[in-house]
Amino acid sequence: MCGIFAYLNYLTPKSRQEVLDLLVTGLKRLEYRGYDSTGVAIDSPDNKNIVMVKRTGKVKVLEEAIQEHFSGGEYSEPVLTHIGIAHTRWATHGVPCERNSHPHRSDEGNGFVVVHNGIITNYNDVKTFLSKRGYEFESDTDTEVFAKLVHHLWKTHPTYSFRELVEQAILQVEGAFAIAVKSKHFPGECVASRRSSPLLVGIKTKTRLATDHIPILYGKADDKKLNPDQDADSGKQQVLPRSESTSEFMPLEEKEVEYFFASDASAVIEHTNRVIYLEDDDVAAVRDGTLSIHRLKKSLDDPHAREITTLKMEIQQIMKGNYDYFMQKEIFEQPDSVVNTMRGRVRFDGNAIVLGGIKDYIPEIKRCRRLMLIGCGTSYHSAVATRQLLEELTELPVMVELASDFLDRNTPIFRDDVCFFISQSGETADTLMALRYCKQRGALIVGITNTVGSSICRESHCGVHINAGPEIGVASTKAYTSQFISLVMFALVMSEDRLSLQQRRLEILQALSKLADQIRAVLKLDSKVQELAKDLYQHKSLLIMGRGYNFATCLEGALKVKELTYMHSEGIMAGELKHGPLALVDDSMPVLMIVLRDPVYVKCMNALQQVTSRKGCPIIICEEGDEETQAFSSRHLEIPRTVDCLQGILTVIPMQLLSYHIAVLRGCDVDCPRNLAKSVTVE
Ligand code: F6R
Repeated sequence: MCGIFAYLNYLTPKSRQEVLDLLVTGLKRLEYRGYDSTGVAIDSPDNKNIVMVKRTGKVKVLEEAIQEHFSGGEYSEPVLTHIGIAHTRWATHGVPCERNSHPHRSDEGNGFVVVHNGIITNYNDVKTFLSKRGYEFESDTDTEVFAKLVHHLWKTHPTYSFRELVEQAILQVEGAFAIAVKSKHFPGECVASRRSSPLLVGIKTKTRLATDHIPILYGKADDKKLNPDQDADSGKQQVLPRSESTSEFMPLEEKEVEYFFASDASAVIEHTNRVIYLEDDDVAAVRDGTLSIHRLKKSLDDPHAREITTLKMEIQQIMKGNYDYFMQKEIFEQPDSVVNTMRGRVRFDGNAIVLGGIKDYIPEIKRCRRLMLIGCGTSYHSAVATRQLLEELTELPVMVELASDFLDRNTPIFRDDVCFFISQSGETADTLMALRYCKQRGALIVGITNTVGSSICRESHCGVHINAGPEIGVASTKAYTSQFISLVMFALVMSEDRLSLQQRRLEILQALSKLADQIRAVLKLDSKVQELAKDLYQHKSLLIMGRGYNFATCLEGALKVKELTYMHSEGIMAGELKHGPLALVDDSMPVLMIVLRDPVYVKCMNALQQVTSRKGCPIIICEEGDEETQAFSSRHLEIPRTVDCLQGILTVIPMQLLSYHIAVLRGCDVDCPRNLAKSVTVE
């Protein structure tokens, strides 16, 4: 949901063109977060103004506009200290167009410019307040109020520092935000903050950093609100309480330094692996090259400092390599990503599993009343896929919930519940809200995430990193199979001391050890799947049917087809076919069925025959060599045999490939499907 990126070079000469290149590259890395419009702001060559370029469309369009605008020689002159900010948008308030693109400005003179990710929910109140004071608005966005509010505060509190102005503005806004602010009145300074939307600061220095921690400075401000109804002409200015930061520690001071503010680590990794993940309501400010982190209020459990973390990510992980699309690369990475999920956790020789991130909590989890698995979209499907195994191996009731619906229902939660929050990004707003809801009610919170340092990761009591590596394609693929395996590993840990389940555990462990090779075998179906896609891509709809352990593949396959190809697709529980969906079947409706030799095989065959007797010609995903089942199909894809509860990993891969090939044939943007964004940080 929008990507923000800012770059500040202090005593590190860079031309404006170099700065613009950095900003554009940063935006390209964040493009998966939103790609309907983009913009940048840098200093004008005479340093007296801020110049902005904005474009509707993807970063490529902005890049071309930048080449046109900033080709003059003055843009190639090195500047010792400079700050540039940039944004790629996923529209929430106002249609995608240049007027609504970020950065947004405070006034015609571009005094303050802001990039924002999130939603300011009380923007109407702030707008009313500012309109009464003569501010005119030029966009339909919520963000613009922030720029104008900072400007208003600057006029009414002329002695305030840049950071204090932003702090005061933050006190007035509600909702979710990550922001970076630049001002022509405070050259060379940048102020950034976050609340419920992710933001990190990357630090690059020539020499090793002298410290691993940045102290937190506390202010003394209370959160007195501006009164929008107060008469703007009454002559009485509302004076806000001033924050006076105090700390016994010193902020980070470096002689030559570069700072990167970004929505996620993939945008900074090519420059530095040293980052600070900001917490909600942190205000990070750089002045004279010095980074300081401030909080307005001190709470008892606040640490004294923010840690500088070393990223483990490698630059190759965020490059496409020889693949045409990130999604394609990520599908083909699955033989390795599933192994990385198990690495250091599963000992195949001793049949032992250790999940370091939750091992201390296992006794408590074993005593719980029920397990709740909560997520959205694909992450929710990984819960559907593993629910049956969790019920079998934990012998506990397992509830599977869509985060948005769970919140709508105000679902009862108890202290002895254990709630799993599954999220690739770790930032999905619905999932995060559900987490906070359960935490408040005393439940144990377990995070299953792919993003180290994400909000869900930080706010969980314990958890499992799925270690799938960065997933950049908007459609989730390798994260799904790694979430699946993480939950299987958890089920195995929970059943470690159950004698009656040892044979079953052994069977699953053996199957896990063969999984990478079996995924490789399934990926060899690629050209066959491409041929299938050629037959299907002009159809309007695709029904995907299955049951038991493969129902999740139907839901996930249909989601992939919808989001990538814009075709209608539905995942249908085969047992439900006769209760309605069968009416859709005729000789022209494409149907894909998953029919494997597992305990529900006979029931699946019944459904298959219901389809063929209505002149349906299903395409079947079946086991290698299963000619009896293939006899009922128009075409088939054969996958290797594995244990029933892991079949879903092998059956989902042909669906990922199929949606990918249909999308390519239909000319869709595979990595950036229309209207979507990877990290959904709005409710
Ligand atoms: C579909 C997809 C989405 C996400 C959903 C949750 O391909 O990617 O459905 O799964 O938005 O995102 P995370 O897992 O980041 O919480």
